[in-house]
Amino acid sequence: MDDGLYIVTSPEFIEAILHDRNDLFLKSGSPENRDMVSFPSSVMNSSGDDWAFKRKAMQPDFSLRQVSSALQSTFALTESHLAQWQTGPTSRDIRPLLQQLCFDVGCQFLLNMALDREDRAAFIALSEAIILKTRDPVRLPFNLFDRTASRLKTARESAKTVAQAALARAGQQQARGRAAELGMSFVNRASLEDAEWLCDEFCAMVLSGLEPMSAALAWALHLLTSHPEVLNRVTAEADLLSGVEWATGGGSVNLDAFPQARAALMEALRLFPPAWLTGRNVARDTTLGNFDLAAGSAVMISPWINHRNARFFEEPDRFRPERWLDGTLQQHLPRYAFFPFGGGIRRCIGEHFSLLHMTLILVCILRRFILEPPSKTRAKAYPALVLRPLNVKLALMPRVFAGETMGGTDECSFSRQSRTMVETI
Ligand code: HEM
Repeated sequence: MDDGLYIVTSPEFIEAILHDRNDLFLKSGSPENRDMVSFPSSVMNSSGDDWAFKRKAMQPDFSLRQVSSALQSTFALTESHLAQWQTGPTSRDIRPLLQQLCFDVGCQFLLNMALDREDRAAFIALSEAIILKTRDPVRLPFNLFDRTASRLKTARESAKTVAQAALARAGQQQARGRAAELGMSFVNRASLEDAEWLCDEFCAMVLSGLEPMSAALAWALHLLTSHPEVLNRVTAEADLLSGVEWATGGGSVNLDAFPQARAALMEALRLFPPAWLTGRNVARDTTLGNFDLAAGSAVMISPWINHRNARFFEEPDRFRPERWLDGTLQQHLPRYAFFPFGGGIRRCIGEHFSLLHMTLILVCILRRFILEPPSKTRAKAYPALVLRPLNVKLALMPRVFAGETMGGTDECSFSRQSRTMVETI
């Protein structure tokens, strides 16, 4: 049998690859080809015992309880970012703003600490280099003339220096006994000898938060502003809730509080899944249905393809968040017809975190701004490691609630009674 490259679309086969027979279908990124791997070495791209050790160490930090307890700080961070977003009739690309916000949210969650502007810039440079490199069709066996590879190497080194310093600062806080008081989890779990792998893990996790979350949010805003009737429904739902009440709900917050916002995000993840392509290597000769697969073959799986299949979704190319509202669709969908967070043992560790925190961020944005897309520009998909949206341009107009502008404070103070919204401009 020759080894080959297969694109797998059948949900049953995908289930076999990601779930039932995951011992035969291995994630790429083994130590031998680490130099070619674009992501920092981490739970994301390790395998075997190394992966199992890291995943076990990280898993407790991403429990629903843990990620819910971070909502208050995400709320405060989001409000302070939004207060600095420029309002007015000029439209601007919203994705880089979301990227900065998601970076800060990721750092705050992992280290309970904010990094400064320059540190953030080092990570954003790494993210840009990864996106360029993974979009690059040329994979030279050496880096001599490969400019994207050398850019990536430099960006990785400077992000790593920033990460090491950040972890050291977080470690000092821990030593001063502030970790427990701050509810710090990530650095709490690592002994000092683990610092090296923790640093790579931190880089990978920050990038995981930064890129796919900001892409998903930018796609959601793009889709909502192109569908004003849906945007109105989601905004009306956001307006019903007091931010303070919600964000300080003592960890009892669940996504059911925002069915419209959640459905809009699910639909954005369906139409534009940030992790649009993944792959596995076949470890030993095997079969999948009637297909013989040789050891060394690669199988590619794309949520994008399945999410737009008319067998599973009525009007698959249309943005119809209401399809998720009554739960019927979820009951009838085959397990791997919709899988924006992957599946099986390598399922995304940040799924709960992303869904909860993206919902909060979306709600905060809609409460604060009237979003206006320009009449001419069109958003474009840029398929790299993450399906990045280009050119999601929006003009942001401030909204006014009962005579009070939503800006300038870290906590929203409007309540159910002050829901009568006056739109300015
Ligand atoms: C919208 C946001 C996100 C999406 C769509 C997403 C999607 C995914 C997908 C599809 C996978 C599986 C890849 C595969 O099977 O090859 C994955 C894995 C992973 N994700 Fe996410 N992710 C998101 C956010 C996050 C966040 C915020 C974090 C952490 C802070 C995170 C950390 C990870 C890690 C560590 C893995 C590897 C898990 C393993 O191999 O054991 N992700 N993600």
